[in-house]
Amino acid sequence: MADSPDAPRIQVHSIPAPETGPEERMRARATASYEANPEDVNRVLLLYSGGLDTSVMLKWIQDEYEAEVVTLTVNLGQPGEDYGVVEGKARQLGAVDTFVVDAREEFAHDFIVPAIKANAIYGLAYPLFTALGRPLIAKLAVDYARQSGCDTIAHGCTGKGNDQVRIESTIATLAPELKIIAPVRSWAMGRDEEIAYAREHGIPVKGGVESAPYSIDDNLWGRSSEGKWIEDLSHAPEDDVFDLVTRPEEAPDEPETVTIGFEAGVPVSVNGSQMGLVDLLEEVARLGMKHGVGIVDHIEDRIVGLKVRDIYEVPAAAILLPAHAELERLVGTIHQNQFKANLDRQWAYLVYAGLWWEPLRSNIDAYMDSVNEFVTGEIGMKLYKGSARVVTRSSPHAVYDAQLATFAESGGLFSQQASPGFIEIWSLQSRMAWRLRNASGAADES
Ligand code: ARG
Repeated sequence: MADSPDAPRIQVHSIPAPETGPEERMRARATASYEANPEDVNRVLLLYSGGLDTSVMLKWIQDEYEAEVVTLTVNLGQPGEDYGVVEGKARQLGAVDTFVVDAREEFAHDFIVPAIKANAIYGLAYPLFTALGRPLIAKLAVDYARQSGCDTIAHGCTGKGNDQVRIESTIATLAPELKIIAPVRSWAMGRDEEIAYAREHGIPVKGGVESAPYSIDDNLWGRSSEGKWIEDLSHAPEDDVFDLVTRPEEAPDEPETVTIGFEAGVPVSVNGSQMGLVDLLEEVARLGMKHGVGIVDHIEDRIVGLKVRDIYEVPAAAILLPAHAELERLVGTIHQNQFKANLDRQWAYLVYAGLWWEPLRSNIDAYMDSVNEFVTGEIGMKLYKGSARVVTRSSPHAVYDAQLATFAESGGLFSQQASPGFIEIWSLQSRMAWRLRNASGAADES
């Protein structure tokens, strides 16, 4: 396969480096028009996390392309990150300029809120936190590349994941003049070679060579872990993978009910106190973590073909998404509720698949906003040892009449005497079809 000229030229395993020089290797792999040829690369904006891959990359780009590197690190609410340390490391490794952007507000308002309004879940379980973060990170990369005179953007995604799709399609959409390099996809270094490269070039490496870490991505809306035993589908989760959420068996014995207030589909309060969105997301996450809520063990159909297992910790999403969906169903009619689930799924798939900038997504958002105009009210969620269950609901817009729902007649909106007429007509075609298909001689009985 790998030898065939038509085969995709994505090299993901650690293989011996070809005999050819680096320039020829890189040129041979350029497939898309937005990929940079070495002679185009003078100043690179690197999306820098401070981890091993992007730190090796920072040096490697300077050496291989003889280019200047500017770094951009985006704060989307990764818990416990020290951005001063990340920036210092970038300078130490030769970055000519470094930027750290706090994009938490934009992420919360412009990405997480639309996801909540769309009840966004992919594959029945994944609340899309990474998929939501990538288009924003890539948009910021475009802004900072332009303002700092870069001709190329570099990122640390592999050739096996969805993230390359999300980042590159964003850049190619918003900035057709910029080129892209994805060194991890082409440099043919495995982890051991990367560590050797790091040691050779004075790049600090955390932990021993032995302790390959989980591959982590996190932000305000969740955290994913991949790699190690997670790739063995028969291996049950080991405790050390859980970094946020308390294991349910160790969660408090007393349940706790949290009441989330929504206004027009946006969460605005927790237990009656109004909060800014970022604080609210953090507070709800804190409660979920405490009660073991939001652990997901997921096999995912990736855009790039593979099925991959991820362990997710999504304490805020596991409370806010079901609360929102409950309130939305309460204020929606049966017809709206039947219809919206299909659009929800379409929205989640577009975003999962890296097409944030696709106009269909904005079209669907217009519908989501329209429905959510009335999604105002409060939902109580009972948190207990890993579960989050709706226990109370209230809304001025609830399409619900407590009297109608009891056996007593009321209001003149509904007469039980009218029911048989409805049933006869409602079931007409089904009854006819049943007879035609099942009763022998049914045609004779009119
Ligand atoms: N499987 C998820 C997704 O495709 C999470 C990916 C996490 N990314 C990472 N680089 N570890 O959105």
